[in-house]
Amino acid sequence: MNLFRKKSIQNSTTTLNKTLGALDLTALGVGAIIGTGIFVMTGVAAAEHAGPALVLSFVLAGIACVLSALCYSELASSIPVSGSAYAYSYVAFGELLAWILGWDLVLEYGVAAAAVSSGWSGYFQGLLEGFGLHLPTALSGAYNADNGTVVNLPAIVIILLITWLLSRGVKETARFNSIMVIVKLAVVALFIAAGIFYVKPENWTPFMPFGFSGVVNGAATVFFAYIGFDALSTAAEEVKQPQRDLPIGIISSLAVCTALYIIVSLILTGIVPYANLDVSDPVSYALRFVHQDFIAGLISVGAIAGMTTVLLVMLFGQTRLLFAISRDGLLPKSLSAVSPKTQTPNRSTWIVGGLIAVLTGFVPLDRLANLTNIGTLFAFLVVSLGVIALRYLNPELKRGFRVPWVPVVPLLSAAACAYLMLNLDRDAWIGFFLWLLVGLVIYAVYGYRNSELNPKKLRRGNSE
Ligand code: ALA
Repeated sequence: MNLFRKKSIQNSTTTLNKTLGALDLTALGVGAIIGTGIFVMTGVAAAEHAGPALVLSFVLAGIACVLSALCYSELASSIPVSGSAYAYSYVAFGELLAWILGWDLVLEYGVAAAAVSSGWSGYFQGLLEGFGLHLPTALSGAYNADNGTVVNLPAIVIILLITWLLSRGVKETARFNSIMVIVKLAVVALFIAAGIFYVKPENWTPFMPFGFSGVVNGAATVFFAYIGFDALSTAAEEVKQPQRDLPIGIISSLAVCTALYIIVSLILTGIVPYANLDVSDPVSYALRFVHQDFIAGLISVGAIAGMTTVLLVMLFGQTRLLFAISRDGLLPKSLSAVSPKTQTPNRSTWIVGGLIAVLTGFVPLDRLANLTNIGTLFAFLVVSLGVIALRYLNPELKRGFRVPWVPVVPLLSAAACAYLMLNLDRDAWIGFFLWLLVGLVIYAVYGYRNSELNPKKLRRGNSE
């Protein structure tokens, strides 16, 4: 048994089309990051955890993400292959941990996409209601016997639409994404410009009604808002100059979003007393609160566009991840078949889209968000340690970007992620362990035997 067999860095072949540059990547990054986290989850985080100190929650979560982003950048610039953190740990730690991480990321992207489309559906139905249109209750939300909802139909429809778009090819997707990102940034700017005049500093006191522990719980919740920059590194094989462009894309998209979140959270809690913010569309609500209904409507439209781009990148990331895992033999090969016409992994795109459509149709949003957070934090933690491991194992490797002060920065990053994980609830931990358990079973019965690194398989391959 060799559970720690490692891949060498150079032995990946590329069949995907190389079309993306640094600007496309930054747009994809912002597209992935600004979404349900800032548009929806800020409300609960302010009302139930942090109060006006929501801004500190964003700063804390942001620090953890910036540290992790540095680590991601180094690995993405030295191992530019599809599969992101999964591929890095294959080189740094060997197959078992790589599989665990790959399986963990399947959870991250899949559950995040389901959560975001559920938030999308909420805003979309709010907008329809503005025009006097109502969906039948049974079709308006995930199953809940108490309020009569059975299935979240709009959430399913948007997932299937995005899946179709992705199956048409990457360049088309990136173009659509860039337009939506501009719309999204415009509405965030609109919120800031219009909202700043209604800020009442007295709403900021008491600043920390739930104490520092509330701020940290808030940070573990709004961490969701930052997820997405990591998905960029899954596109490595489709980037023209990955060693230069990936670090630029990762760091600049995260920097833009962090700055915006800090401003938005200050203004939001400055307009509305924090206890009132527990609504499904807090950012629009804040402007309705000061009777700016028209601007509030525009912001809803922009939020819908914003969440659409998040969905796009999450689904994109997941199909590329499955592509990488199955190419290595740990999942069935049919998942890495690339369509000759569009040069995209068409089959895995539709399988993923279908499964997520079921998830978002029947499982409520709040269950999904924390599970996403714990899975992602775990991946960030492993990536941070991976930087240290690779510096020792492979010091000669050409690195387009280097994390400063190794091992201090990666260790701080790992500690910050672990700290946030410990602040998530028990349900998230249980879900996380169950998912990992299923993953280990799949590895034991399928992946170990079918891996490209299995010596028996290598021999078979040679004799053919
Ligand atoms: N960061 C993404 C969002 O906020 C997942 O929707």
